Amino acid sequence: MRTIAVVNQKGGCGKTTVAINLASAIAQLGKRVLLVDMDPQSHCAVGLAVPEEQIELSIYDVLISHTRNEPIRLTEILWQISDTLELAPASIDLAAFEQQVSGVPEPETLLKRVLDEVSQTYQYVVIDCPPAVGLLTFNALRAATDVIVPVETGYFALHGLSKQLETLGLLCKRCKQQVNVKVLASMYDIRTKMAREVLAQLRSHFADRMLRTVINFNTKIKEAASYGQPINEYDPASKGQQDFRRLAEEIMGIEPAQDSRQIINSLAEQLEAISTSANQLLASSQDKHTQRAKPSPTPQASVAATQAQSPQPEPTPAQTDARLASYYGVHPSKGAVTFVTLYPRAKTVQIAGDFNNWRPDQTPLQKVNENGVWQVKLELPPGCYRYRYVVDGQWQQDPYNERVEPNPFGEYNSVVEVK
Ligand SMILES: Nc1ncnc2c1ncn2[C@@H]1O[C@H](COP(=O)(O)OP(=O)(O)O)[C@@H](O)[C@H]1O
Ligand SMILES: [Mg+2]
Repeated sequence: MRTIAVVNQKGGCGKTTVAINLASAIAQLGKRVLLVDMDPQSHCAVGLAVPEEQIELSIYDVLISHTRNEPIRLTEILWQISDTLELAPASIDLAAFEQQVSGVPEPETLLKRVLDEVSQTYQYVVIDCPPAVGLLTFNALRAATDVIVPVETGYFALHGLSKQLETLGLLCKRCKQQVNVKVLASMYDIRTKMAREVLAQLRSHFADRMLRTVINFNTKIKEAASYGQPINEYDPASKGQQDFRRLAEEIMGIEPAQDSRQIINSLAEQLEAISTSANQLLASSQDKHTQRAKPSPTPQASVAATQAQSPQPEPTPAQTDARLASYYGVHPSKGAVTFVTLYPRAKTVQIAGDFNNWRPDQTPLQKVNENGVWQVKLELPPGCYRYRYVVDGQWQQDPYNERVEPNPFGEYNSVVEVK
């Protein structure tokens, strides 16, 4: 049985949406799935049209009763959602869980003990966690073979991410558990430049700790929740449904940690590694913001600086943004195109595209200054070209080029036209 905990202490980053729709997508692929709601706010019930007032027993009762002599079985509280999906609902009592179990030995393993009893019944368990790192989340982590951390693709999402991963790491230090921890980009809005930038940075920093699938922002997903349906029922043709199907397939394809012969880091080590990456990522995005406020001389900017010797008024952030936007990106000229990008921490930046048979090793970018500006000029016959950057081995779309098109891998290629 694989047990997937969906964890992030930030509210509104898409945990419940991911938990419900991932569980439902895996169930639709023919597996028996149990969705466990560990959030006192009971959003899974709301999102699956289970009438809250009719929930008499919840996961709270099961957990608490396991500390006493007459345990309530999990089967007594379940709601059937579809042929292969069941919900163990939450209730507001969970808010008092921590107090109720004080004095109980190993209260963080209660959920694991309950789930172990049904390990022959379900192939997958998905656990929705509350927006806090407390005993409820810790119970989910202790039961988990897989942890998914959904991260909204905006700069603010990164604040607090490293701190909480650090906290989770500390919490788990004692347990020598084998799990896969993966970061999932959620609510991705391809139309905004910031989202594209953050995704590119998440990819380059988290590398293989990042799930390949991205959950796009899709209004159908929001609508589905308000109608109490998973997206695969509400709108099977929607983009949102395709994303969750892809996510389910990707997760199902990952080798479960306990069966793997490779040496897998303990949960604590993985969380710490992710937390370090999040810190670096945050620092580099802050660097970038600082650079935006005061751009340091770039090849073009230094020419401008020597031409204008007199002191300039400080540009507004919007002016600086506009100036940088016109500097980074693609600059087609007659029969050629110059690619300019910013990767302050990269060791190598290459480009792969239609023009070099997608062989990045053929076309490296040159680092043009210490700030991490990289550039290459390619002479190309007129036409439309698709390309991606390869930054320290990680493929990513150009964060400074708004023109993109989907590729067969569920990601986006950047597009440039040479006249
Ligand atoms: N991919 C998405 N596209 C559109 N809306 C989304 C998406 N993911 C989440 N939402 C909406 O964002 C809000 C917060 O999501 P939710 O899953 O409840 O977050 P959390 O459980 O982390 O608090 C909800 O209204 C939800 O419908
Ligand atoms: Mg939630």
